[in-house]
Amino acid sequence: MRILLTGAAGQLGRHLQPRLATLGDVVSTDLHGGDFRCDLSDPRLLNKTLNRVQPDLIVNPAAWTAVDRAEDEPEACFRLNRDMPSWLADWCVEQDRMMVHFSTDYVFSGSLDRGWREDDPTDPQSVYGQSKLEGELALKQSGANVLMLRTAWLYSHFPGNFLSAILGRAERSESLRVVSDQTGSPTWAGLLADACVTLLTLRDELDAGYSSFHVAGQGAWTWHQFASRAVERAFELDLIDQAVTVDPIASANWPQKARRPEWSVLDCERYQQFTGQTLPTVDEGLEACLQQWVQSVC
Ligand SMILES: NC(=O)c1ccc[n+]([C@@H]2O[C@H](COP(=O)([O-])OP(=O)(O)OC[C@H]3O[C@@H](n4cnc5c(N)ncnc54)[C@H](OP(=O)(O)O)[C@@H]3O)[C@@H](O)[C@H]2O)c1
Repeated sequence: MRILLTGAAGQLGRHLQPRLATLGDVVSTDLHGGDFRCDLSDPRLLNKTLNRVQPDLIVNPAAWTAVDRAEDEPEACFRLNRDMPSWLADWCVEQDRMMVHFSTDYVFSGSLDRGWREDDPTDPQSVYGQSKLEGELALKQSGANVLMLRTAWLYSHFPGNFLSAILGRAERSESLRVVSDQTGSPTWAGLLADACVTLLTLRDELDAGYSSFHVAGQGAWTWHQFASRAVERAFELDLIDQAVTVDPIASANWPQKARRPEWSVLDCERYQQFTGQTLPTVDEGLEACLQQWVQSVC
């Protein structure tokens, strides 16, 4: 099986690449690297890449992920998060191929007394959330064979995410103030990549057409709890020299351009029932990520 992996240089892409290689030959693409450099926001280049690679399966973690910048650049964000997946899906329909796509907890808003399920009503509060939701809807309507995984608060030991930012500041002995009134399901990118491969090995049991699953760390943390635990464990593992103080603050005192949901916990029961596997807890996910971090600096 030939697999085209987009966004191969992103944090999820980098975790997917070695795992997808257990299923077939992976051809990678990214804006600035991979086997084929390609700007996927240009449908002509995108189709050229697809026709050249002729993948049996497309795995698409490429996305516009700059949540706050999206408020100022909605057109570019919608082009990548809504239009690009729908172009991939059109090609899959024409060629009778399958694709995997990723979406976000930011399609939800407000509060619940339980985790969000796949079919709960959506109500994005930001341009990014709206663009990802419209991407989902475009895929649903495309008629393509699509596996869509919604995840939340993705992090890894690579630069450019919440965990690496927090530990970078801790390493420089900077004290931290972190929001304590938003609760979610922090998800290690390796956990999501594993779950993606598990679902792909079971793909013959999926319904034809569009299937969606929530995949996230099990349990719930606020950003403040996440940061506090990360600093504590990183210090114990010698990744940072000092267990800096992590002070809780209210979102109102940490102005951000895009609104975030205050309750972002995802219910992953559908995934666990379908695969028969229990997903790691938020704490186990963090531990696995930090252990990988330790290995990467050895
Ligand atoms: N990060 C989160 O907290 C989070 C939470 C929930 C869901 N998700 C979803 O999970 C998926 C993976 O996210 P991630 O955190 O791994 O994202 P990421 O690290 O930002 O990676 C996205 C990748 O897409 C590439 N890309 C951007 N614009 C492109 C273009 N025009 N043409 C080709 N490639 C382009 C980027 O390349 P450059 O780096 O060169 O720009 C990057 O390699 C996304 O669908 C995201 O919406 C993420």
